[in-house]
Amino acid sequence: MRLSKFIGVLSSMAAACFAQPSLAQPSLSETAPPPVARASESADVISWVQYVAQGLEARAVTDRASCPAASIDGTPAAMQVRAAPASDFPNTVCTLSLPFGATSVVVGSTALPLPASMPKRIAVIGDTGCRLKGIYLQACNDPVRWPFRQIVTAIAAKKPDLVIHVGDYHYRETPCPKGDAGCAGSPFGDNWNVWREDFFAPAATLLGAAPWVMVRGNHEVCGRGGQGWSRALEAAAFDVARGCNGTSPPFAVPLPQMTLAVVDTSNAAEPVADATQAAAFRAEYSALARYRSPVWLLQHRPIWSTGGMVAGLPFGDNKTLALAARDAMPEQVQLSLSGHHHIFQVLSYVENLPAQIVVGHGGDYLNIGRSGDPAGWVINGVTVRSGLHHTGKFGFAMLEPAASETAPDGWQITNYDQTGQPLQRCHVAGRTATCASE
Ligand SMILES: [Fe+2]
Repeated sequence: MRLSKFIGVLSSMAAACFAQPSLAQPSLSETAPPPVARASESADVISWVQYVAQGLEARAVTDRASCPAASIDGTPAAMQVRAAPASDFPNTVCTLSLPFGATSVVVGSTALPLPASMPKRIAVIGDTGCRLKGIYLQACNDPVRWPFRQIVTAIAAKKPDLVIHVGDYHYRETPCPKGDAGCAGSPFGDNWNVWREDFFAPAATLLGAAPWVMVRGNHEVCGRGGQGWSRALEAAAFDVARGCNGTSPPFAVPLPQMTLAVVDTSNAAEPVADATQAAAFRAEYSALARYRSPVWLLQHRPIWSTGGMVAGLPFGDNKTLALAARDAMPEQVQLSLSGHHHIFQVLSYVENLPAQIVVGHGGDYLNIGRSGDPAGWVINGVTVRSGLHHTGKFGFAMLEPAASETAPDGWQITNYDQTGQPLQRCHVAGRTATCASE
């Protein structure tokens, strides 16, 4: 292939990674699991529990100027205003720190879920919003072609103990053209109407079902969906003066079986390494050595991962993170959970590096390209030993402790389609992943 032609193919594939409609839309005949009650969405309050650097917080978004009543273990507790109403966000975001060992928390009339003593079902979703940007017009009004709500229902039916969103919640950036029934009536821009339609309304069932860990995606940088992110979902305190938080500091979630370390890679330059950024990420990765092992790294952009291969070369791999992480990743980091590529992917490497899981098929346009065996792929000088690369189907993943005679330790990760049917299963032990189809 001539170089110019190859570059053209590569460019079109890279663009497809973020914006191309899937060639394999799911069948309308697929059956969704029965709906479950929305525990967290009452008339004017949406509430949930999420992990932050200091532990756990209950949060609420309300149409009113004051925060709803709340209680912890039956004792009244005052929620604090995190974000006051603003022109594009005519509602109040409230927060309440939860003490370790709390056994009940109620916001308004809604009892919120608290952490399991030993989480055994960890749901992972990513890249969930509905694409409206320029010529890329997803059918936001079609629950099959934009199936985030269906995926939420399927996850909730499996009763997860914890939900991890690996980023990219907000996708409606430009208006739906007149005459397009698929997206007619959709809001656009960084405002509450979009955040409600892209995330809070479809996610309500799951927000009320389990505590969450929220990871920031590149769609939540300031200038895209960053205001809504910072007001409501950011773990750190809201930067009121700026209206949008800059890059967030890392934080850790200490769980009984592992430490979840959340790193904000939303602005990590992808096609060309940024040396200044790489130095900052290198420091953050090196500092993960202070956490109790094993550490699972949660970051939106994966490191040694690709949206697919073109003529034997990866596309969409992140040059800045690769520069930062090589020789800087502490031994206790065993797994990296990410999204960004709109696929399901599991990679473990010949080199002694953490296994990589990509869960980016949660609703937005899927990557094109074929599924295949990634063994032998070379990504920024790192070689894939084993794993899987699955394209063309929406869905989510569930991590559960592996407990069988053939896999006595480690974790099992199952890839489910949007209706909750299992597609593939992998076993992750240490830094090694092995996969098999259902
Ligand atoms: Fe992304």
